[in-house]
Parts: sequence; structure tokens; C-alpha cells
Amino acid sequence: MVTLDDIVSLSKRRGFVYPTSEIYGGLANAYDYGPMGVELLRNIRDLWWKEFITKRIDMIGIDSSVILHPDTWVASGHVDSFTEPLVEDKITHKRYRADHLIEADLKKRSEKISVEEMTRDEMAAYLLEHKVKSPDGNEISEPREFNALFETSIGVVSGEKSKVYLRGETAQGIFTNFKQILDSTRVKLPFGVGQLGKSFRNEITTGQFIFRTLEFEQGEIEYFFDPEQSKWEDLLNQWKLQMMTFVTQKLGVNTENVRWRQHTDKERSHYSRDTYDLDYQFPFGWKELWGVAYRSDYDLKQHAKHSGKPLEYSDPQTGKKFIPHVIEPAVGINRIFLMLLCDAYTKNDDGRVILKLKPDLAPYKVAVFPLLANKEELIAKAREVFNLLSEKFNTTWDDRGNIGKRYAAQDEIGTPWCVTVDFDTLSDSTVTIRDRDTGEQKREKIENLVSIFKDKLGK
Ligand code: GAP
Repeated sequence: MVTLDDIVSLSKRRGFVYPTSEIYGGLANAYDYGPMGVELLRNIRDLWWKEFITKRIDMIGIDSSVILHPDTWVASGHVDSFTEPLVEDKITHKRYRADHLIEADLKKRSEKISVEEMTRDEMAAYLLEHKVKSPDGNEISEPREFNALFETSIGVVSGEKSKVYLRGETAQGIFTNFKQILDSTRVKLPFGVGQLGKSFRNEITTGQFIFRTLEFEQGEIEYFFDPEQSKWEDLLNQWKLQMMTFVTQKLGVNTENVRWRQHTDKERSHYSRDTYDLDYQFPFGWKELWGVAYRSDYDLKQHAKHSGKPLEYSDPQTGKKFIPHVIEPAVGINRIFLMLLCDAYTKNDDGRVILKLKPDLAPYKVAVFPLLANKEELIAKAREVFNLLSEKFNTTWDDRGNIGKRYAAQDEIGTPWCVTVDFDTLSDSTVTIRDRDTGEQKREKIENLVSIFKDKLGK
């Protein structure tokens, strides 16, 4: 089975993900996306947007500000309740999440109970009873609540600065725009509003690569409905099905590596009446990829109360006025990214890595190679092929080393097809197409390449 070290090493070696600010020693829980990473991220984002916004008549998108009015976070309950239980190593003063230390301790003892079943008091009692130590083997403090919202300030004159927050979830920008969306569009319940964008949380648990970072991208949907017309249980089930279909069919993830888990009463967020996590089996265990929650009318009611503005929907047929309820599917784009790397990572019989991403998700669809790098006529012909293909598909170029090395390099970044221009190309306008997964090589006419790759991509 693939290890996290395999993924971290491939990511750095091939330009998917780099530790941020490496020349300054890095920064915990912060990463940069390299040339391959940026393409894969964009492909994930585009697919999410296409499937959940563009292709649906009941969905629209927005892009709200990262810094919202600070009252937003008071109304949403994040200022009071967006907390995690933290403990401190009494020697090193490093901080850890109490639930994460307990989770590791339970695993060590092969205990069947789960930390998700525990209240904060039960966590404190567990740490005491089992004398849980920090990862450095030192005594730890009692757990204290720590707010994960990222504080910053507006203004340049000290003393006159005002406290604001970098958003902790994209969802609130949808709720605060609810009235403007109703006033500026012709939406009718049930309808959903989706948003893709960065969120920020003061995460202190390290060692999970891009699974848990300070800054990450979310794809969130608020699906508004009339609770007298639709049963929330039915809508929740429909969303669960759509999420699972997206992961297994659109992203091509192995069904054995995904499962549903219902949140316990103790772990559910302050706003939620019922929550399920779609978990993926990461190299470090089953972990949340995507959550879906029934948030009732909690958020709109809170914003109506705190802003003093009515946030009601008026039924165009009956004139009935009410605050809609919502189902919220919320996913981390970076977690999808990590899942795809883990799921696609395979080794062939010689121990070489082949990243078997679905072709439409791969950073590059085609790589073009001139057989030799020092033959002008081959280079010129290969450039023509590159120009032809790059108009239609994300295409890359490689003229370094022998062809075997070039195939190996493309396999590691998941490029599904390589096209080699050789001396025969100059006389008969054919090239060799080599397939990543089968290794099969076929001779094809240059004039047919665009339609061949369009067919393969199902375009
Ligand atoms: N609006 C609901 C909400 O934000 P969440 O479960 O806290 O719910 C939704 O976050 C998704 O965002 C998670 O399922 C996960 O994929 C992603 N996510 C949350 N915190 C993250 C972090 N620190 N780093 C990367 N992704 C994160």
C-alpha cells in the first residue's frame, strides 16, 4: 500500500507540492503547489464547478470576499464555538490537539472506542487516567479551548486597527449574500448556491501533509429548500448519492477506499442537526474527505437576528414568507487532490511509479517528444505537432534524455499519452502514440491526432 512518504516524495520530485518557504526552513502546515500541482488543482476545481454548478438548472455560483464583516462570525457562532481542545507539552511548550493525541493513544492500545464519542470532559479524564504524553514523551497540560479562526486587522495606525477574520469557511459568504441573490436572480426553491475559494484555520496538528493546512480551498454548496415541501432526510440522501457518484465515477476513485460515517451527537458542529462524512482511506487511516450537514435555518436566522435585515424567501406562487432550510455538502479541494494522488499511485513490475489519474484530471493530456534533440528537422516537426495539440489539450514537451526516460518521467506525473516524432514522421506524417497504462504503441497520422485524443477523452 502507498505510504504518505511515497506521496510526499513524488510530490516534491515531480512538482506537485512543495513545502512552502523552504529556503527559510519552511512553515508548519503550509504548502505551495508546483507546476503539476497547479494543473491538477485546476482540473479538480473545474470538474466540481461543471458538475455541481454549470450542468444543473437548480444551482448558481458566487465568489465572496475572504474578509467578511466581523459580525458575520459572531452571528454564525464561530467566535464562540469554533474551538478545538488543545494541550501543551510542559517542557517544549509545543501545542497539540487533545483529540488527536487520544486518537493515537487509542490506536496504540488497539481500543475499539472512538474519540468522536467523547465529550470535552471525557477527553480530559482520558488524558489524565492514561497519563497520555506529548509526542516528545513529556507531560502535558490540561486541555484548553482554542479558537481556530484566523484573526487579522484592518487599518495601518496602531490603536485604530479593527479586528477582522480570514474566513473559516466559504459557507458564510453564501448566507450573507442570500438576500442579494434573491433580489438579483430568478431562483426558485429548492435551489443551491456554490462557492469555491480559500478558507483559513489556525491548525496546529502537523505531519499530515496537505490533509490539514492553515490555508486550503473549499468547494461548498448551500442547498436551500422549504421544509414543508421537501423532507430534509430525502435531500440529504440525494446529496450523499451525488457526492459518492462524483468521487467514484467522475474522479475515478476506487469504491473500496471510500465509506460513509455519521457524526455522533457529541462531535456534530454547533449548527448541524445531522452530519455525514464521506471518508477516504488515506495512508494514515480513514479520514474525512467531504462532509454533508443539515444546517436547518440556523445560519439565515442568526444573520437576520444580528443584522436586523429580513432574510426571508417569498414563495412566488403562494406568497408564503419563510426562512429556508439548508443541506450543505462541503469538500476540501486539497483533500480531493491528496486522495487522487494516493488512489492513482501504482508501481509497475520494475518498481517504477505510474500515476494512473483519469486522463481528464491529469496535469497534461499529451507529451510531445522529438526523437533526437539535435536534429533541426525533427524539432521543427515536433513543434508543429505540439502547436496543433496544445490548441486543444494541455500538452507538454520533452527533448531531454532517451525516450525510455521521457516515458518514465511522464508516467510519474500521470500523462496518459506520449507522442514521438521520428525520421519516418518527416516522410509519412505519422507519429507514435504510447499509452501510459498499457505501454502499447501505435502509429497514427498527425492529421488524426486531435480527433483521436478527443475520442479518448470523451469530448
Ligand atoms: N462549512 C462547513 C465546513 O467548513 P468542515 O468539515 O469544517 O465543514 C469542510 O470543512 C471540508 O473542508 C472538510 O471536509 C475538508 O475536506 C476541508 N477542510 C477542513 N479543514 C481543512 C484543513 N485545515 N485543511 C484542508 N482541508 C480542510
